[in-house]
Amino acid sequence: MRNIVLTGFMGTGKTAIGKSLANILSWQFVDTDKIIEEREKMSINEIFQDKGESYFRDIESRVVSEVSNMKNVVVATGGGVVLKKNNMELLSKNGIIICLTASPEVIERRTVRDEKRPLLKTENRMEKIKELLEKRKPYYFCADLVIDTSKKKQRRGCH
Ligand code: S3P
Repeated sequence: MRNIVLTGFMGTGKTAIGKSLANILSWQFVDTDKIIEEREKMSINEIFQDKGESYFRDIESRVVSEVSNMKNVVVATGGGVVLKKNNMELLSKNGIIICLTASPEVIERRTVRDEKRPLLKTENRMEKIKELLEKRKPYYFCADLVIDTSKKKQRRGCH
């Protein structure tokens, strides 16, 4: 069985959906950002601030290489993982790539109270979201499956 790898922009639901999926399948859930934070003993914000984005991207690639060797795991990746061809080749080798998408408005709303995302710490967040989405669109759409989560709400039971 191949791993399930969730890609997609910040705020598209990779962590929430990944955890549910892992739970349903009784598989392990791994989050590349979490692994990076644990390993560096720093938050993603601190890594970006103190060491820079390219340092972060290098560790991210190392972590991607490790998780792509795991079996029966649901992997949530950081939104920028798709930018490196090698990351995606490694993840696809042993996994099905599912890209989650959402409209800029929904992404803006879901990330509004979030201080954890260094790339969105900017005056005009909406503009930044649109700019990054546009730049990354071709990479996100290379996935095996693309699912729009714009209309998805957190499930709170049916009754
Ligand atoms: C990033 C997304 C973040 C995190 C880092 C960079 C990106 O992960 O990896 O802040 O470049 O889009 P999430 O997509 O889980 O927020």
